[in-house]
Amino acid sequence: MDVMRISGGIPLRGTVRTQGAKNAALPVMAACLLLRGRRMALDNVPNLQDVDTMVDLLRSLGVGITREGSGIVFDVPETIAWEASEQLVRRMRASSLVLGPLLARCGSAVLPLPGGCSIGSRPIDLHLKGLTQMGAKIEIKNGFVHAQADRLRGRRIYLDFPSVGATENLMMAAVFARGETIIENTAREPEIGNLAEVLRDMGVQVDTEGTGCVRIRGVDDVRDCSARVIPDRIEACTYVLAGVMTGGEITVEDIIPEHIDALLAKLEEAGASFSVKGNAVAVHPVKKLRQISIRTLPFPGFPTDLQPQMVAALTLSNGVSMVEESVFQSRFLYAAELNRMGANIEIRKDTAVIRGVDGLDGASVRATDLRAGAALILAGLAAKGETRIEHMEHVFRGYESIDRKLRALGADVALEAGTETK
Ligand code: UD1
Repeated sequence: MDVMRISGGIPLRGTVRTQGAKNAALPVMAACLLLRGRRMALDNVPNLQDVDTMVDLLRSLGVGITREGSGIVFDVPETIAWEASEQLVRRMRASSLVLGPLLARCGSAVLPLPGGCSIGSRPIDLHLKGLTQMGAKIEIKNGFVHAQADRLRGRRIYLDFPSVGATENLMMAAVFARGETIIENTAREPEIGNLAEVLRDMGVQVDTEGTGCVRIRGVDDVRDCSARVIPDRIEACTYVLAGVMTGGEITVEDIIPEHIDALLAKLEEAGASFSVKGNAVAVHPVKKLRQISIRTLPFPGFPTDLQPQMVAALTLSNGVSMVEESVFQSRFLYAAELNRMGANIEIRKDTAVIRGVDGLDGASVRATDLRAGAALILAGLAAKGETRIEHMEHVFRGYESIDRKLRALGADVALEAGTETK
């Protein structure tokens, strides 16, 4: 178990640079499976546990991988395997992103069903429904998805929910489909745009109108390609909130302002002070945030991946804030941990009712998942005294060198012996 200790109460100061986006890197990495005897060069890949898991998974399928700093080169042979390892899929749900490209390229794919996780049941029925509509034969046997299709057929698909993973899987599946695939009600997250860019660089015609519709014209083969992973909007916003919560003065660099509009709009409503200049956001100190109401939604709505961190910030606001989670079913497990630190959060079905308190106190708490862990770190930075956070391994899945980055901003943060970030 990995553990972090924080001595809180220090206003953060300085500049932090945003890492490449985990959620953009993973689907783009999976897209290399579409190549045959060709290579993909990817830049600005974050150094994270989840990226390592995707590397292991791609290697297990036969892809040659060379890493140098934040660059990865994928050499994809003419023949690859199409059965994803159960152990790796269990380690990371996003492993299911290999299903679409494997099926498109190999005509067959076997994927262990990813199962639930601590933020909800997270089925992949929309992925499977879309693939079936494109002509795949799908069978579920002993917890494995077996998919087969000599060649998928392009057609119009309507997603019942704008699922990020389903949109990505179907986009990759459409690359070798006969004719045009039109996916309606797609996710509009910026990570979808990053994947579309890579597919275009492979020589595929992809039209993302930014309005929840993606059109892809199938091709017979794709070519070498290269891409840069976009900045991680969730990591960037987590640092913005660290500045706000500690009454600090920090600059978060390498952001794309339109990607973090939802957070900035809500922070403005809550009375935070910040300025956006080019690709950086500077946070200025304010005494207290005001109460606000938030509902998580698919992009461009407020991201569910920032919900725990925002709730942590609102524990110190004036009045009563309401945060409704509409994307995942059980994403409030961390609230009880924040309450151990003196927060006053009541969970009513899908809504957190947060009564602002004057201060938080350090305590021993446990990260239940990646973003929950980030919320506890924010609380620890703002709290009086020492906070000890167990199960930091969840946090390392998504935040590169978080201890070092926080220390560079002046935080008093240490990892217990035996704990190492990437
Ligand atoms: C991605 C992100 C994750 C983020 C989420 C929502 C990656 C690697 N992960 O996850 O960090 O929290 O988007 O922004 O990019 N659903 C179904 N059936 C399906 C697929 C999804 O019911 O077949 C439901 C899910 O249970 C959930 C909702 O749709 O309630 C959103 O899920 P989805 O957008 O698919 O999230 P992921 O792609 O898994």
